[in-house]
This record gives sequence, structure tokens and C-alpha cells, in this order.
Amino acid sequence: MALDYNAINLSQGFPDFNCPDQLLKLVEEYQAKGFNQYAAMPGVPKLREQLSKKIKKLYGRDYNSETEITITAGATQAIFTAITASIEKEDEVILLEPAYDSYAPSVLINGGVPVFVPLIKGSYKIDWDRVKDNISDKTKMIILNSPHNPTGSVITETDIKILEELTRNTGILIISDEVYEHIIFDGEKHFSLSVSEELAGRSFIIFSFGKTYHTTGWKLGYCAAPENLTKEFRKIHQFVVFSVNTPVQYAYADFLDNEEHYLSLNNFYEKKRDLVTSLLKDLFYNFNPAKGTYFQLLDYSKISEMNDMDFAERLTKEFGIAVIPLSPFYSNPYNEKVIRICFAKRDEVLYEGMNRLKKASQILSEKNTIAK
Ligand SMILES: Cc1ncc(COP(=O)(O)O)c(C=O)c1O
Repeated sequence: MALDYNAINLSQGFPDFNCPDQLLKLVEEYQAKGFNQYAAMPGVPKLREQLSKKIKKLYGRDYNSETEITITAGATQAIFTAITASIEKEDEVILLEPAYDSYAPSVLINGGVPVFVPLIKGSYKIDWDRVKDNISDKTKMIILNSPHNPTGSVITETDIKILEELTRNTGILIISDEVYEHIIFDGEKHFSLSVSEELAGRSFIIFSFGKTYHTTGWKLGYCAAPENLTKEFRKIHQFVVFSVNTPVQYAYADFLDNEEHYLSLNNFYEKKRDLVTSLLKDLFYNFNPAKGTYFQLLDYSKISEMNDMDFAERLTKEFGIAVIPLSPFYSNPYNEKVIRICFAKRDEVLYEGMNRLKKASQILSEKNTIAK
């Protein structure tokens, strides 16, 4: 629709700026040097070694690069593979909603049963009492995501402690989707589940290069998990993709020495979040500034009584600004009036996008008042 209506596209989550030149050069160099054939099934060894060092440095956990790290075709494949490796018919998987849209279908394809637990409205923190109430002897897995798409919330050390207590001696597996590990704001620290020895021992921790290097279209990610889980993971990985893009893996292996790139990302995106929230501050949208990711939720209940699908459609068609309604991130009928915008865009695009949201808020809220 964004294309059809020539709208500014703040809907899907990808940057409209390019990745670092040095990374492009490295890919070209490796292609020219002939690194164009199948990589090793679990990934290029040098890349896995670099990632093992990085995780150790950032989160203090040792993952053996030979036996505990696997390079995947993006985080989506890693999530699918971890679920397929773990879930059998009728196993229950706790999903926190709203949730990234690949989790539930991946559980269902494997005959598992998604058990949906809503995040707390407004703050979108985890409601641990409800999680506890939904743990049964059929619970095989819990899927967490922090920083969280679509809400921008983040987990804290306390969440990790509670999860340890709730799942102690249960054997419940965890998928921790940490693709936005380097996009977290206000001086907060990313709490990877790998910091917890107890949880890391039964977790698949999943990352994506796409979010960190502005290369979502290259579809490269990785999974860190203890050896027993990685063994099962690779049995599936081998026959889902076998191996992933060779020259890009070599390029990332070199580029990972450039720590400055990922260490500066928080600041880079925090400025964009601040720009967007300051431009929307005095309008009729309600929001809590995102604590992480490159998404901002906006509650438009003061502006319109339309449902979120219709509201998003109208913004695209009449005001030339494409956004995402929140309802597709839920499994059940849902009637909050919330949309998501992506601020991984050039500043001039964000200025124009916020102008259009402003115009929509003025015109639609006037109509709404008259209708009342
Ligand atoms: C929470 C979350 N997990 C996973 C992914 C998928 O990452 P990838 O593009 O590496 O498959 C996304 C992409 O938007 C995401 O937002």
C-alpha cells in the first residue's frame, strides 16, 4: 500500500540508509578472491570464533565456537530451527503478546500448542504471575524477546531472576530473541539471558546481523546454545539450509573487529527516537518513549475511534504515511487503538513522516470531536 499510495513508509522494520562502506568493500573483496562456495555447515569458523569472543566480552559467557554457535539465514531461521529441534506434538510453548509474528506459526507447524500470555498493557512488561499460572507439565518452552518488537520494552535483571525461579528444576527450554541487543536507550544495559548460568544452560540465544549492521536483506543471524541443544539444532539446520552466504560471513568476521560500530548504535538510534518523540509530543497521540529497538508505539485513542487496521489504512491512503497496526501481533480479538512506526529512517524522512502524522491527528481528531 505504501508503494501504491506513494506514502512515506514507516511500517516495516528496516533502515532506509546503507550499511558501512567498509563492510561492503569486505564483501566485494571476499567475492573477488573466490570465497563463493558452500561454507561449513555450522558457519565459517573465523566468524564463530569472533562471535564467541564478542559474547564473552559483552555478557561474560563462554560459548565454544566449534560446538555451541551456529550461523543461520537470519534470526527467523534460527527461531524456526530451535523450535523444530525442541517441540513435539502437544508440547506447550508460552508466548508473550504482542509478539513477533514468526513464533506462533513455527510452533504450530511442529504440532506444538502456543499458550499466549499478554504483556502488561501500557508498560508492556512481563506479567510473571500470569506466566506462572500458565506453566503446566506440558510446558516445553518459553520465548522471550528483549528489546521487544513491537513495544520497545526491555527486560531487567529482576525479570531474569524471576524466570530462573519459575523454571528451576523444570527443564523448560528458553528461546531468547535478542536481535535488538545493540539498540537500547537511556543508559540502560541489555540483559542477555546468557548472563544467567542457570538459564543459558537451557537457552537458545538468537541474534541477527541485519539489525546491527543495517543489512536486513542479507539475512544472516546466529544461535548460541549449549552443546546438547546445539547438536539438536544442527540436525535441523543441516536440512533446512545446510549453510549460509559465504562471502558475507567472512566479511562480518573481519568487520566485527570494528567494535565502535555496534557500540555507537544505541546513541545513533536514541537520537532518532528522541527526534520522533519530540515532534509528536504536543499532538494527541499517547506514548511511552521506546526503551529499545527502532520502533515506537502510538496510542491514537484520543484521535479516532476507528480500529487499528482501518486507521492505518486511512493514514496510508489519505495522509501518505504508512504505519503498522498492532493487532497482527496478537492472536486474539483485540481492540486497543495502537499503531507502530519504525524510526530507522533518515532524519528528513522522519521530519516529513511526523508532519503527516501531525496533519492526520489534527484533521481526524476534529472529525472525531464533531461526531461526538
Ligand atoms: C523480534 C524479531 N526477531 C526476529 C526478527 C528477524 O530477524 P532476521 O531478519 O534476522 O530474520 C525480527 C525482524 O524484524 C524481529 O523484529
